[in-house]
Amino acid sequence: MNDKFSKIGFILAVAGSAVGLGNAWKFPTLVGQNGGSAFILLYFLLTFLVSFVLFIGEICIGRIGESDPVDSFRRLAPTHKEAWSKAGFFMISGLLIYSFYSVVMGWILKYTITSAFSLPSDMAQSGEIFSALLKDSPVVAIACFSVMSLTCFYIVSRGIKSGIERLNVWMMPALFILLVLMVVYSMSFDGFSKSAKFLLVPDFSALNSKSVLEALGLAFFTLSLGVTTIMTYAASLPERTNILTSSLNIVFINVMIGIMMGLVVFTFIFEFNADPAQSGPGLIFVSLAMLFSKLGAIGHVLAFAFFLTLIFAAITSAISMIEPSVYYLVKSHKISRLRACAIVFAFTYVLGIACILGYYGATADSFSILGTPFFDVLDYATSKILMPIGGLVIVVFVGFVMRKEAVHALLAPYMGELGFKIWYFVLLRCVSPVAIILIALRELGILRI
Ligand code: PFF
Repeated sequence: MNDKFSKIGFILAVAGSAVGLGNAWKFPTLVGQNGGSAFILLYFLLTFLVSFVLFIGEICIGRIGESDPVDSFRRLAPTHKEAWSKAGFFMISGLLIYSFYSVVMGWILKYTITSAFSLPSDMAQSGEIFSALLKDSPVVAIACFSVMSLTCFYIVSRGIKSGIERLNVWMMPALFILLVLMVVYSMSFDGFSKSAKFLLVPDFSALNSKSVLEALGLAFFTLSLGVTTIMTYAASLPERTNILTSSLNIVFINVMIGIMMGLVVFTFIFEFNADPAQSGPGLIFVSLAMLFSKLGAIGHVLAFAFFLTLIFAAITSAISMIEPSVYYLVKSHKISRLRACAIVFAFTYVLGIACILGYYGATADSFSILGTPFFDVLDYATSKILMPIGGLVIVVFVGFVMRKEAVHALLAPYMGELGFKIWYFVLLRCVSPVAIILIALRELGILRI
């Protein structure tokens, strides 16, 4: 394949996939609900013990298979090739995530534009504005969602180098700069020291077994695992890239951006005595949107910068959810990238509209399953069921099915013999599968701890 990433392009593209709305709202929300910094330490620990292990496993499949997910599994399975190739279809989970994620991107676009001109002045008004966007008329939500979705597909249609890499190479640094500016600005508030204390000084009494599993789920989602994204990007990894240091850089960037996002969000939450333990959309679209208004004119600039940062974070993640399927259609079905994009766009567009209509008052019933809006059904099915199962399949494949010699030849030069043994025998074969099974069972309500 000649359309490959450059080394830095690869790191930024994978970091771009990892850093997304998960960092911007799942991370602060869970940190808020689990008592702050002790949860972050737990998240670090699980990131290194489980998600990072799986992350490297996905890179192995992509790098050695050098093809789309379906074909990579087929090539690397020593026996039962056709059966294993089906594991590549976990790429569809990425499309399902994309379908509701791009709807949220539409909301963010709307907030980016309107926050420059007007912000809600109290909580009730802020709540009403957000609920009007969801429930009153679907037109604005559909228009904004369509713009965001077309943008993502346009980027993916340009290919790895001139689409995905080019976008990430400017958008990731831009996101970082915007975020640094916001962190520096938030330092001028009293809420900043409370926020820093909340995020950085551990209070272990706030942790319980639920937090452990919640931290693991988060570590999984924020690293984009189990949906073949990382393996697809790794199929375009340049020769002689140090897999270990690149992966460490990516995980470091991901964690650092989560913390910076958290610092900004909680500074304003504490500054204006709002509740740190509320959930994602409430935290960002209702509380923050209103809190910025208390800062007068600068609040508009800040709100605009904040929502723009979210758009950048979200776009770089969203394109990574659709690339595996587009790449599969191009490679295995020999159709043009543009056609592949059109097919995948049509599929996700229909699902995205169904997500919007599931919240809209007049159509809510028709687009709900057992009383749950379609949006929430997709969110639940992907993050609680499909991602963990996909992750488990990948762990089993790399740890027990792929030839160990091939995995060793790829990783030992970077990890050393001892490092490889720990990664392979302890973490990949024992710790990760057990941890993933535990999250899945708990999320499904089968395990009650
Ligand atoms: N890591 C992304 C986030 O934290 O928002 C979410 C994500 C991206 C999930 C790509 C799955 C994926 F394939």
